[in-house]
Amino acid sequence: MASINEILDQFKQQLAATTKVADVLNLKAQILGKQGALSEILKGLKDATPEQRKTLGAEANVAKTQIEDLVGAKITTLEAAEINETLLKNKADFSLRDAVMEKGLQAAGMHPVTIVQREIEDIFLSMGFEVLDGPHIEDEWHNFEALNIPATHPARDMQDTFWFEDKKHLLRTHTSTIQVRGMKTRKPPFRFVGPGKVFRCERTDASHEMCFHQLEGMMVGEDVSVGHLIYFMKTLLSEIFKRDVEVRLRPGFFPFVEPGFELDIKCLICGGKGCSVCKQVGWVELLPCGMVHPNVLKAGGIDPDKYNGFAFGLGLDRLVMMRYGIDDIRLIHGGDLRFNSQFKTF
Ligand code: PHE
Repeated sequence: MASINEILDQFKQQLAATTKVADVLNLKAQILGKQGALSEILKGLKDATPEQRKTLGAEANVAKTQIEDLVGAKITTLEAAEINETLLKNKADFSLRDAVMEKGLQAAGMHPVTIVQREIEDIFLSMGFEVLDGPHIEDEWHNFEALNIPATHPARDMQDTFWFEDKKHLLRTHTSTIQVRGMKTRKPPFRFVGPGKVFRCERTDASHEMCFHQLEGMMVGEDVSVGHLIYFMKTLLSEIFKRDVEVRLRPGFFPFVEPGFELDIKCLICGGKGCSVCKQVGWVELLPCGMVHPNVLKAGGIDPDKYNGFAFGLGLDRLVMMRYGIDDIRLIHGGDLRFNSQFKTF
């Protein structure tokens, strides 16, 4: 009895002095381990009387439980202290930012296109889509041929292209190139989106830029229908605008989809009355889309007799303009900090 209490007291003193989890565990082993002090006492029980054995055995077990509890509590305390120390060391220091602001300089902000793009990526990620990337510089095959637009096709004129001098490479005119790259590297069923910059040799005005942003989407499987397409587009728009928006679906022509559609939304800048953003028609073309053309599936290495799919090419800048009430697309690339810092600062 006396020695059990001694062991306990000594243990408590030693435990109080430990500062590391490893030391606590060593201490525990020294007492409760096979060669440990408590085990030695239990081993000595074989020579004791039945009476002694009973009381000593019970006492030893109580001591063992107590030691285990103390060890657990000590480890919890040490771990919490370690977390607090790390948090203190890595504390974010905003004083520089504040100093910069006091001098009247602009704080960094997130670009509105980035904000909206990330939101849309999150919406699609939550619906089981992947997010893919693709190069800005493309070849003719990925930008046109694989998308059912051969060299002689008049649709090549729909997208005025920046060609490189070798006449083989170009700045991608649309993110549909990501469709081609996505199909080639996966097996159906799959679904992904691909956001990015696109380039067209256009005259600029309030709703046209030479460089703008699209977000491509594609879903391929065995029984994909126009119903799926409409469902995903409607979910996207209501999540983005956080309210019901009026939409209309019109037939639209794109060589890589059949049937093809134009999904328009009622202009949120003028409420449908007509303004420079909606070119005075009250509706904004936002979402060209359709069912993937069999030739495109073939080019992507997919059997069009077995699989089908939908694709869409969202105009990101227009969506940003609708969302924030921006009436000139040129502001988006203007680089004016008074514009850029209005959205979300760090
Ligand atoms: N790539 C087309 C464009 O830029 C948009 C689109 C994508 C249309 C996907 C249909 C399907 O004009």
